[in-house]
Amino acid sequence: MQFYLAPMEGITGYIYRNAFYKIYGNIDRYFAPFIMSKKLNQKEIRDILPENNQGMELIPQILANRAEDFLAIAKAIESYGYKKVNLNLGCPSPTVTSRNRGSGFLALPKELDRFLEEIFEACPMEISIKTRIGLEDEEEWEGLLKIYEKYPLEELIVHPRLKTDQYKPGTIHREAYKMAAEKSRHSLCYNGDIKDRETYQEFISDFPDTKKVMLGRGLLKKPWLIKKLKGGTEDPVLYKEELKAFHDELLAGYVDYMSGDQNTLYKMKELWAYLGTSFTNPDKYMKKIRKSQRLSEYKIWTDHLFREQELIL
Ligand SMILES: Cc1cc2nc3c(=O)[nH]c(=O)nc-3n(C[C@H](O)[C@H](O)[C@H](O)COP(=O)(O)O)c2cc1C
Repeated sequence: MQFYLAPMEGITGYIYRNAFYKIYGNIDRYFAPFIMSKKLNQKEIRDILPENNQGMELIPQILANRAEDFLAIAKAIESYGYKKVNLNLGCPSPTVTSRNRGSGFLALPKELDRFLEEIFEACPMEISIKTRIGLEDEEEWEGLLKIYEKYPLEELIVHPRLKTDQYKPGTIHREAYKMAAEKSRHSLCYNGDIKDRETYQEFISDFPDTKKVMLGRGLLKKPWLIKKLKGGTEDPVLYKEELKAFHDELLAGYVDYMSGDQNTLYKMKELWAYLGTSFTNPDKYMKKIRKSQRLSEYKIWTDHLFREQELIL
């Protein structure tokens, strides 16, 4: 099985990816959060600069619904040496979908088809797609899949939810993924709600032919997850030491990159919303971490947490 890191805007930027690579290093492909401006801004450039992504295979992602925009962004990305790019057809955020981008573009299959025809015709890079299965009805998926079949996708990453499902638990459409697994000629990658050994085992027993999975929130909550899925030793002491090393690496990365405690703390607090769920008795510590206004205070409370509580593996 190959494991991919899902792109997660605001979280899995290059600082996160580098810390992950250094401590865990078990990701086959890293996906950068989406780029949508034709002229890449400084933050977007820094995120994909090869010197900021050494040793890992990084696939930049584009969010666009006009071929002209896609091609301009792809050209800029290519100038940094990339040969592959991913198209985002999954983002469910209203600010994106209201302008018919991300999963909003799935509502316009004819326009989507024309867009794909143009970009596959003109773009010299290999293009993969990360998609949801429709806007509001599972019936939409068959038609979308037929469109994808027309083009030489580098791979097709399927998050089998509708736009209207957002991220609600229990909304994975297994039948839709099954249709892709049975009918698609593309190399498939599955994405969605793999968060522990049980959900992973269930997936591989249902879909033994899928050889690639993309993990998002499951890894944010349990950065050791892939090790566990690969059947590595489950030593809680080792896992905690590694997690502390990962945390410290990430913190150092943000301190280096951000100006002032507040910005660093904002980033770290965002992560704790996920990581906190993997500790025993987290509430008291999460409250203190959330309230921390200075790094010194934050460090005291994270040290307490690591010392006094255990991981829920
Ligand atoms: C905070 C956050 C930001 C995300 N940003 C992106 C993004 O930039 N591009 C994208 O294709 N998907 C994005 N996603 C969706 C994830 O890549 C992934 O498809 C989704 O979380 C389902 O996988 P999971 O259940 O393993 O988390 C984001 C998800 C979250 C929670």
